[in-house]
Parts: sequence; C-alpha cells; structure tokens
Amino acid sequence: MLIKKPSDIKEKEVTPKELYLNRRRFLKTASIAAAATAAGAAFPGILAFPRVSRATTKLEGTRKSPLSTDEPLNSYKQITTYNNFYELGTDKESPARNAKYLVTRPWTVAVEGEAKRPKVYDIDSIMKLSPLEERIYRLRCVEAWSMVIPWVGFPLSALIKQAEPTSNAKYVEFTTLYDPKRMPGQRRAVLDWPYVEGLRMDEAMHPLTILAVGLYGEILPAQNGAPLRLVVPWKYGFKSIKSIVRIRFVEKQPLTAWVKSASHEYGFYSNVNPEVDHPRWSQARERRIGEFFKRKTLMFNGYGEQVAQLYQGMDLKTNF
Ligand code: MTE
Repeated sequence: MLIKKPSDIKEKEVTPKELYLNRRRFLKTASIAAAATAAGAAFPGILAFPRVSRATTKLEGTRKSPLSTDEPLNSYKQITTYNNFYELGTDKESPARNAKYLVTRPWTVAVEGEAKRPKVYDIDSIMKLSPLEERIYRLRCVEAWSMVIPWVGFPLSALIKQAEPTSNAKYVEFTTLYDPKRMPGQRRAVLDWPYVEGLRMDEAMHPLTILAVGLYGEILPAQNGAPLRLVVPWKYGFKSIKSIVRIRFVEKQPLTAWVKSASHEYGFYSNVNPEVDHPRWSQARERRIGEFFKRKTLMFNGYGEQVAQLYQGMDLKTNF
C-alpha cells in the first residue's frame, strides 16, 4: 500500500495448479524435495520451485455458491505468493516466506461489544457455525491489480445473528492478532498495530460479505489470513482484514488502521470506484495478475447490482 508502483508476477513465473500439484507429488515420492529446494536457493530462476508451504487439510462438504463469478481463476501459486500482509512483511513475496511463524492453533475469536450474546469462539467451532461455501470473487487491490480467488467461507451475517447485536450496534470493528513473535512484521512501526478494519452494519450483513477459512477447497494458508479473514468483494482489498481475533459491535465508526495512518489516501468506505482516484494514482484501470494488458475497473468491482443501493444518496467522492 505504501509502495507506489505495483509490480506483477511475470507470466512465465506462474505455474498452473495441476502442474504444480503433480510436480509436488513427484518430488515427494522421489524424496528429492529437500535437494531441489537447496538447489533452487543456490540457482534461483533455474529451478523455479514454488516455495509455498501448502496447507493439506481439505475442507469437506463445501457447496458452490450462486454468488460466484465465472471468470477464470488465478492459480494457487499466484494467490499464495503475491500477498499484502504487512504483519508478515511489506513486499509481495515475504508473507509466503514468513508464513511459518504464524501458528494458528489454538486460536480464539472474541465476539463482543453491543450484543446480547457475546461469545469467545474457538476457531474450530466458528468453522462449524454455518455450512461452508465456495465463493469465487474478484479481489481488486487499491494498488490497481486484481485476482479471481475461490474462497471457502460463510456469510458474516450468520455469526452476527448468533451474537444478537443491540440497537446501538451501528458498525462492526475487526481486529487482527497482535503478537510480534508470530507476526514478525509487527516489530516495525509500519502501521499502528494491531490492524483494525470496520464495516457499517448493513455492509456487514450483506450476503456478499463472508468470513473465509479456506481457498481452493483447502484451509487458508497463513499468508492469506489464516485462520479467519474477512472478504468484502466490492471494496478495495485492504478492507478484507486477515487473521481476525476480535469482532466488536460498536456505535461509532471504527478508526481503521489505514485511516489512522493516511486518512487523505484511504477512507473508511473504500468502495472500488474507477471515478475516484487515489491521490497518487488512477483507479480507472487494473492489471489482473497473470495478464499483460490492463482492463477497466468496474464500479463496486462489478458488484454494483447487489450493493449500489447501500450507498444511495451518498456522495462517494467525499465518502471514499
Ligand atoms: N490484513 C492484515 N491484517 N494486514 C494486511 O497487511 N492487507 C490487506 C488485506 N488484509 C492486510 C490485510 C490488503 S492491502 C489486501 S490487497 C488483501 O489483504 C490481500 O489479501 P490476499 O493476500 O489474500 O490477496
């Protein structure tokens, strides 16, 4: 986000998922994975072996959601090696490399604040709260790149209904884990840690807003925000907070980490809007990771039909 010019993964560096899986299987059987990794480190670029620690737990019984886009998916490698997760490093490759530090069990999520039924959930009980669905969504990052990601998750509204928010609950505030041991990026004051995000109650209750626990049918890799992250597909990617430990119902608009850090650049709403530029770059176009030519950015990231009514009568230039 602080980085001004987006850089992309080159097409030749991208391994289709099937090829990648087959290669992994082969390496495992032949017991040469360790040797290959060592050789890859010695001759970078010659052995382009993807160093992604792959989550192995399949998420069973996932049903497909009609709310998915049918656009071609980005590969598992693209989605898990090109990340924004400042707690695990500020460049795109660091989160995958530092994922090993982020131990996600045991893990609890406190649901609290203006609610009749506050509760501290164990992560495994949250995952059973509602049937898991595959939701294929476009993610549009504020840095003008995008991906199409097959998330596994459930509507945030399912958790909110359990909590029974009071009439004072106007917003929902989300907080990421603060633990510099597990999140080495927090040793540097890049942001005022922990990362905080927020949604208005109607945005949080919208059927497109999900809590994700997986992608590509498997549990979420750490670099993508394990064990629980928010996904709000019509907003810039930074609203989709990772590795959540607290969800709080509040009366006042939460002070989010990016608003705190640079309020003239990042607003509370942060709806994808090709007509409202970031002060330092245009938001009219985006580069889909893996593609060469840029494409036009769509209002609300293409989800306008479902969400435009949430903002009726609001000036989206001032409420950016
Ligand atoms: N959540 C936390 N806790 N820390 C972060 O740095 N980066 C955000 C968002 N959530 C971020 C975060 C940004 S800028 C983007 S674009 C998305 O995560 C990227 O999610 P992905 O890596 O799964 O694509």
